[in-house]
Amino acid sequence: MLRLSGVGKQYGPPDRPTPVLRDISFSLADGTFCAVVGPSGSGKSTLMNIIGLLDRPTSGRVDLDGIAVDFASPETTARLRNQTLGFVFQAFHLLPRLTAWENVALPLLYRRTERRERRGRALDMLGQVGLADRADHRPGELSGGQKQRVALARALVGRPRLILADEPTGSLDSVTANEVMSLLSDLNRRLGLTIVMVTHDQALAARCDRRIEVLDGRIVLDTAAA
Ligand SMILES: Nc1ncnc2c1ncn2[C@@H]1O[C@H](COP(=O)(O)OP(=O)(O)OP(=O)(O)O)[C@@H](O)[C@H]1O
Ligand SMILES: [Mg+2]
Repeated sequence: MLRLSGVGKQYGPPDRPTPVLRDISFSLADGTFCAVVGPSGSGKSTLMNIIGLLDRPTSGRVDLDGIAVDFASPETTARLRNQTLGFVFQAFHLLPRLTAWENVALPLLYRRTERRERRGRALDMLGQVGLADRADHRPGELSGGQKQRVALARALVGRPRLILADEPTGSLDSVTANEVMSLLSDLNRRLGLTIVMVTHDQALAARCDRRIEVLDGRIVLDTAAA
């Protein structure tokens, strides 16, 4: 479903560029749960931002479902992002004044879905992540693991095919991190969801189908290619 070919990214002025990603190539089959690992500053988040169509590569190409992404067109990338991708972040990014279900329903609000359907789908998604009984709680009344499950439900509510998770367990203790990981595995299997997850936790990475290791902006290990 996803293919990167010779993707490079550099920052800074063209005459003194700082390369952050170099010649990144891999493809990801539907239904894969893939971990991205590597030291701090190696380029993992930059890579996720390119896969997430939030940032454009300096060179190379990205294909989604066999079609090259046109990074020059913000409308195209926004539409693909809304229709295909769901995002989960380390810091949850929930809105504190909204209840759990309202947070989950936000992407539907942006699509102008009517309230009854928004609430119905949000409650359904909260059920999928085991939080049906917390729908009317605000983020401040939830534990870290529960917040991340709400964020995951929000990522899922638009029915994406690819979930991009940048250190989704990075703010959680190890027991809670394992629970969130089990939930991701379960969604991967049950819904056939494709997931790319950045993690610093080798034990969690080992539970994925595939592991891509990044060092200095290059892929130094890809278990699928090994
Ligand atoms: N907008 C930017 N302008 C210039 N340099 C940047 C920019 N964004 C990231 N970088 C640099 O790119 C490199 C990779 O950053 P990135 O955030 O992708 O690392 P990371 O692997 O996600 O690290 P961490 O594990 O700490 O999250 C770093 O050296 C960083 O300083
Ligand atoms: Mg990062």
